[in-house]
Amino acid sequence: MSDTLRTRTFGHRIHHYSRAASTNDIAYKIALEGGEEGEVVVAEEQTRGKGRGNHYWFSPPGGLWFSLILYPQKILSSQVPALNLLGALGIAITCGKLFPTLSSQIRWPNDTVIGDRKVGGVLCRAKCKKDKAIFVVMGIGVNLNIEEFPPSLCHTATSLRKESGHTVEREAFLQILLEEMEELYIISQRDFSSILERARLLSSLLGKQVTVQMRQGEIKGLAQDLDEEGNLILRLESGIQTRITPEEGYLRL
Ligand code: BTN
Repeated sequence: MSDTLRTRTFGHRIHHYSRAASTNDIAYKIALEGGEEGEVVVAEEQTRGKGRGNHYWFSPPGGLWFSLILYPQKILSSQVPALNLLGALGIAITCGKLFPTLSSQIRWPNDTVIGDRKVGGVLCRAKCKKDKAIFVVMGIGVNLNIEEFPPSLCHTATSLRKESGHTVEREAFLQILLEEMEELYIISQRDFSSILERARLLSSLLGKQVTVQMRQGEIKGLAQDLDEEGNLILRLESGIQTRITPEEGYLRL
């Protein structure tokens, strides 16, 4: 890939695994040992793929499972969740480039969806010192050619193969995604608000009534906006506006 990859750093060094427990764990260790910005760890399958909220992430052969090492400048630990939106946006843009007839959108806080089914997800893990993020590992999962999902996922997940009827070449997808992601990332470093602007345009939630499961019960309201820290702004039925962090609430689907 490296001879045709048009990036400054993303994907210049790729660590390939046929099988790994979790690429996020490997990339985190590489970063701790001095790994550089843009290094990628990719596995054909993961045996202990991690999803948001400590959930298991189904990662059989046929999908794209990788993690990217980032050293964002001047980013506070509170802003790390917003990078999930950037990742989900990169996946949606790449899906849209390869399959313009499929409508790929992003769903707060870290999903890429086609219709109401999840095709990709992002999980960022940061090493922080005080309130600053020293490095971030951005883990990305995309269901490329998965034909069958386990019963627990079969009504909520989909794959590009299922949606388009075509097999997706993993290397080609990864290359376009790394190019898109680097462009978004460079822009985000000087102007995160323009990333948010694009995230709003591709959001599947904004303007809709949603239900969010909080620890103390569910709340319903109008999804009004996304903020600079990756929070969802909800207008409750009472008219009060509230800000929900990704740790506080789960969307009820
Ligand atoms: C989510 O939507 O819950 C986040 C899913 C993130 C999955 C990716 S696959 C590559 C990387 N390694 C992991 O263990 N998880 C992320």
